[in-house]
Amino acid sequence: MGKDVITACDFASAEATFAFLDKFSELPRKPFVKIGMELYYAEGPQIVRELKRRGHKIFLDLKLHDIPNTVKKAMAVLSRLDVDICNLHAAGTRAMMEAAVEGLTRPDGTRPKLIAVTQLTSTNQESMERDILIERPIDEVVMHYALTAKESGLDGVVCSPLEAGKVHEVCGSGFLTVTPGIRFAEGEKGDQKRVMTPAAAKEAGSDYIVVGRPITAAEDPVAAYLRCMADFIG
Ligand code: C5P
Repeated sequence: MGKDVITACDFASAEATFAFLDKFSELPRKPFVKIGMELYYAEGPQIVRELKRRGHKIFLDLKLHDIPNTVKKAMAVLSRLDVDICNLHAAGTRAMMEAAVEGLTRPDGTRPKLIAVTQLTSTNQESMERDILIERPIDEVVMHYALTAKESGLDGVVCSPLEAGKVHEVCGSGFLTVTPGIRFAEGEKGDQKRVMTPAAAKEAGSDYIVVGRPITAAEDPVAAYLRCMADFIG
């Protein structure tokens, strides 16, 4: 899979998602989409099957974190849904990540890409120290989680575009960096704190940018998507 823009379909229903994606029907290629917890919990696996049927690649962003056996079985279900990328929390430890890879691998040896969330971008040094008693510098924690994910057989991480270069240094250029926190230079930041433009994320070495509101809330979502594609892929 090459570099791409992944559009975050953060909608509460299938209707709202289809109404949004119908705007893209004139494009030669269906956008790569991300389905998160909100849409998945509202509509269940059927929304994944339907978007696949319509020709979209899918990043299913459910961030699994449980005991290894439970995650292994859940991943086996996701592999049958034929998603392209799915994810888990690296904090679930090496045993959980290895079990996830095992569960995700189909009988023919193929599997969706599996990436790890390191520290959520909503976590900062202060909350990490206070709430989960992790006292190392957050950058060190993120890189350690990324390396552990790699050693467990995963394909990459979700991270800030600001971390993409360092992750590639530590884990190799083939280890995927999937980066949210993307904004146009003149746009609203919303609740995202550390943001980058699509062009800067390209410079930083991101493999995939995940873009939500700059596309979904744009007056012309198709134009915003095409601008992301042009700036990020060129
Ligand atoms: O609207 P916006 O572009 O901020 O959307 C970013 C998407 O990426 C959302 O679906 C959000 O849940 C997701 N995400 C994120 N930061 C992370 C992990 C996921 O913004 N660390």
